[in-house]
Amino acid sequence: MGKVIAIANQKGGVGKTTTAINLAASLAANDLKILLVDMDPQGNCTTGVGIAKVPGMKTIYDALLGDSQMEHLIVSTEFDGLQMVPADKNLVAANLEMVELERREYRLREALEPIRSQFHYILIDCPPALDLLTVNSMVAADSVLVPIQCEFFALEGISQLLDTVERLKNSLQPNLKLEGVLLTMFDDRTNLARQVAGDLKEFFADEVFETVIPRSIRLAEAPSFGKPILSYDLRSKGAESYIKLAKEIVENEQRNGSAA
Ligand SMILES: Nc1ncnc2c1ncn2[C@@H]1O[C@H](COP(=O)(O)OP(=O)(O)OP(=O)(O)O)[C@@H](O)[C@H]1O
Ligand SMILES: [Mg+2]
Repeated sequence: MGKVIAIANQKGGVGKTTTAINLAASLAANDLKILLVDMDPQGNCTTGVGIAKVPGMKTIYDALLGDSQMEHLIVSTEFDGLQMVPADKNLVAANLEMVELERREYRLREALEPIRSQFHYILIDCPPALDLLTVNSMVAADSVLVPIQCEFFALEGISQLLDTVERLKNSLQPNLKLEGVLLTMFDDRTNLARQVAGDLKEFFADEVFETVIPRSIRLAEAPSFGKPILSYDLRSKGAESYIKLAKEIVENEQRNGSAA
């Protein structure tokens, strides 16, 4: 059964999409079958793996509203082993339309159920909000991966995010776990980044991934070419860091027993 990981932080621009794309590609490079699900109306994840948004295309919206089965929404990417379910701006409407529906928090979970076994990992890129799209993503997930940018105010809003995870654990998804906190855009030349990284490690202790994602121009450039960093510049520090993160996640999984 595929393990589902939601990549979430309601703060904008912390590296959720960059992590979703590059972790997905790094896992796929290990001969694992990976599905990337774009749950953000900005659709950055969709564009970032080279899928053009064409008017009228079928997206995750159709699965959430029950108009299409998930298997009909999956598209292949140019990266071997990596498939995705795209999103576009129409997803904004799903937030409102789902409110009226039965089991509104379980829409994504139930839509993924029939295809889960076809993948080793399913990664969900969440929007920068604690909205119904993020709640659906967390309820569908086995664990939540939280990227945090190494900057001042890094912890702002984090307690609200962790409260949401706790609340879902006590209600809709009792098995939900914290996959880990990922420090992103780390620039070891600045004292501030080093200090913030130190504070975050102290605050989250064991929950912080050993892998830290460096600030890297190559990582920022890759999506404009519609490519994961592994295709764009395999030898870059950014590629190296996401390959290491993938390894850490697979090893954690093996250590915790439940097969991916
Ligand atoms: N490690 C990095 N080094 C340099 N730039 C990065 C890095 N990670 C992300 N970026 C850049 O920072 C910006 C925000 O990253 P990203 O889109 O991944 O964040 P996000 O959390 O998904 O944003 P949003 O909340 O808007 O969805 C993007 O322009 C991205 O290319
Ligand atoms: Mg994003």
